[in-house]
Amino acid sequence: MTAKTYKKLIVNKLAANFQSAIEVIEIPIPEPLPNEILICNKFAGVNAGFDTLVCRGDISYIQLTPPFDLGVEAVGEVVAVGSDVKHLQIGDSVVTIQRGGGYREYQCVDANIAFKVPEATPEVLTLMPTGVSALVALEQVGEMKSNEVVLVTAAAGGTGHIAVQLAKLAGNRVIGTCSSEAKAQLLKELGCERAINYRSEDLNQVLKKEYPNGVNLIFDCVGKSIFDVCVENLAVRGRLVVIGFISEYGNKFEEVTQPRIYHQLFWKAASVRGFLMPHYQEYATEARERLLNLFYEKKLKVVVDPTEFKGIESIPNAVEYMLNSQNCGKVVVRY
Ligand SMILES: NC(=O)c1ccc[n+]([C@@H]2O[C@H](COP(=O)([O-])OP(=O)(O)OC[C@H]3O[C@@H](n4cnc5c(N)ncnc54)[C@H](OP(=O)(O)O)[C@@H]3O)[C@@H](O)[C@H]2O)c1
Repeated sequence: MTAKTYKKLIVNKLAANFQSAIEVIEIPIPEPLPNEILICNKFAGVNAGFDTLVCRGDISYIQLTPPFDLGVEAVGEVVAVGSDVKHLQIGDSVVTIQRGGGYREYQCVDANIAFKVPEATPEVLTLMPTGVSALVALEQVGEMKSNEVVLVTAAAGGTGHIAVQLAKLAGNRVIGTCSSEAKAQLLKELGCERAINYRSEDLNQVLKKEYPNGVNLIFDCVGKSIFDVCVENLAVRGRLVVIGFISEYGNKFEEVTQPRIYHQLFWKAASVRGFLMPHYQEYATEARERLLNLFYEKKLKVVVDPTEFKGIESIPNAVEYMLNSQNCGKVVVRY
């Protein structure tokens, strides 16, 4: 290994937007401790929503004082191994999922938190942790069944396109929402019986007309008026899982005044449930194995957005790209 220093992205101050909060710094590459491995990251997943909220200091379960590291999932190659590490060796490809581990060229981690994978490709980052969240949310929180109508919002995104396929594989009729015709085409290829481009069609009208009995399970990534339409179109005993509310991440949260939500839920015995992966960690290992199997058996397609973001300096553009709804599939940065 010839490199002596590496670049990483840090949050220097809390700020309303990602670009104002971050800085790229260059520091020496560390040596692994006896229980650690040194990884040269090849790809990192971009989580624009989470990153923006962290930069704003708006994630209640994380209390971080700047400066701190950003990025979560990364896949890379082991380039040095601590003296006590026996199960990994130089040249192995590994995935890591830990806060602060993504937006950096190198990282030293406890060898036990790295998962060995056959190859350091961006596809695996779509399965873990993104796909894992989709699977656990649908099954554990949404109580996904078969022969139901399932609606996924931001369905062509990293999390959404996996949710679409899992709902379809479970034997459901799947509707996906998105913001372009190209994404709608992808959703049809992934198994949606109805792809709704909410920029060219009125989501509420389509659901009322084509699904008069309502939607049984909703996987909502978007929030705001899309959430309102989703609640309105829940079926009797329908379940809406709040996966996120990305339409609000870039802005000040909207204040709304309207009758309390139980007026809409009670008469249909419907429910709205929050999902946050850190509260469901006990399901992660099994979900990861199932997803990898589905992927290697070619039952699950993984879509990585084709736009190339290269290097630590490209991360703010990748975040902006997602918040502007431009991505189709998982956004990754390549180092
Ligand atoms: N709860 C958890 O543990 C957990 C775990 C992972 C992800 N998430 C959440 O899942 C959601 C998707 O995350 P992701 O990383 O997979 O992103 P993503 O879906 O790949 O990308 C974001 C997509 O969201 C939509 N979007 C962005 N800004 C929007 C806006 N202002 N209004 C309407 N739609 C907008 C766009 O899709 P369209 O084409 O549909 O407009 C965009 O392509 C986020 O809310 C994220 O926070 C939650």
